[in-house]
Amino acid sequence: MKQDSFVWHPNTQMKEWVSFDQIVKARGMWLTDSHGKKLLDGVASMWCNVWGHSKKELITSIIKQSKKLQHSPMFNLTNEPAEKLAKKLVKLSPGMHRVFYSDNGSTAMEIAFKIALQYWQNRKIKNKTKIVTLENGYHGDTFGAMSVGYVPEFFSKFKKQLFSTIRIPVPNKYRVPNDYTYLEYQNYCLNKIKKLFSKDDSIAAFVMESGAQVAGGVIIYPDGFQRKIKNLCKKYDILFVLDEVATGFGRLGSMVEYTAQSSQPDIVAYGKMLTGGYLTLAATLTTKKVYDSFLGDFYDFKHLFHGHTYTGNPIAAAVANENLLLYEKFKLIKKIQITSKIFEDQISEISRFQHVGDVRHKGMLMGIELVNDKKKKTPFSTKKSFNKLVFEAGRKNGIYLRTLGNIIMLVPPLAISQKELNLLLQRTIKTIKAVT
Ligand SMILES: Cc1ncc(COP(=O)(O)O)c(C=O)c1O
Repeated sequence: MKQDSFVWHPNTQMKEWVSFDQIVKARGMWLTDSHGKKLLDGVASMWCNVWGHSKKELITSIIKQSKKLQHSPMFNLTNEPAEKLAKKLVKLSPGMHRVFYSDNGSTAMEIAFKIALQYWQNRKIKNKTKIVTLENGYHGDTFGAMSVGYVPEFFSKFKKQLFSTIRIPVPNKYRVPNDYTYLEYQNYCLNKIKKLFSKDDSIAAFVMESGAQVAGGVIIYPDGFQRKIKNLCKKYDILFVLDEVATGFGRLGSMVEYTAQSSQPDIVAYGKMLTGGYLTLAATLTTKKVYDSFLGDFYDFKHLFHGHTYTGNPIAAAVANENLLLYEKFKLIKKIQITSKIFEDQISEISRFQHVGDVRHKGMLMGIELVNDKKKKTPFSTKKSFNKLVFEAGRKNGIYLRTLGNIIMLVPPLAISQKELNLLLQRTIKTIKAVT
């Protein structure tokens, strides 16, 4: 048989798919495939698109920078767009002092772990080597990221090769264990952390997604939960590391989610929306205290042992600079706060369907959890991948959707208009009807 495609797709059972739609162009919130069919981008092209596609200002910044300098490494050298961006990122991130660039969220988190672990070595506190994290968190697909953000359904095949971390349960309002109220369970989780911290002085860092766990199923933290963990870290001298790759830059309604959560980190990672979703760039930021521990004479070998070919790529940095200017120019965060009310208004409508167990929402993020049985809360299951069923039904309805397990994710481009968001929600409801 003639083979048409040589591409292996991510997280995909290739045997299930005869072919994949080819997207040939995109404008605004709409993707167009090779047959001319238009799909409303319901997942911001993997949660990274901010302004929609083909935004003139972003394209211009890429072209302009491409004509001047396409790539020049950060090894021994620097470049203007990367310098400018670092300054901006430090300015918008209270308490932060330096920026280390990488290409994607997973590597930004790998860097965060390495900085956290080496920090204690540099300070000659050799026993602090353990990482504590929340169950169900997700930090990417590389080995360090899988070790810390261990989602069993994704990563159990690699379990033996992962480094060990200590995982604390996370309060999920929809699935509070029997015998607990939601509040009691929050306290149970926090007490677990407190007990652990008070008896173990070998903990280097506590790592969590900021504001909500996204890939782990849209689990939005209760008020004060993140802040209380931060306070425990402070009390027991443990580095507090936040992952804002998916939740920062307005996704949950604030530019910097840790300020909204009153929980100053020692290290924070950004990715996805940093370039508006146009080029691949991520950043790991640290406080001065952390950065200073890496300073010394060369033969102290205190410097950070990490770097990538495209670290600080000038074209990616240039488009990120333009993206940040647009956030200010169009007052995007204010706009998001207004637009996101549309999600809120639809919760009761979506919840009434027989197989919708729970609808969770914050900012420009919604997770619709489907169940077989509302009372028993058994996850909705199908013979084929649920993702494929939802994708195909969504496509028929003119929307691009992707699921995580039995959860339909709505993660539209942040600047989506109210009209288009309403359309996305109506078509999602139609899609739920079609698949259940
Ligand atoms: C919270 C979080 N951290 C890290 C990552 C990994 O980012 P990337 O896919 O760019 O490697 C993701 C990706 O979805 C994420 O949601």
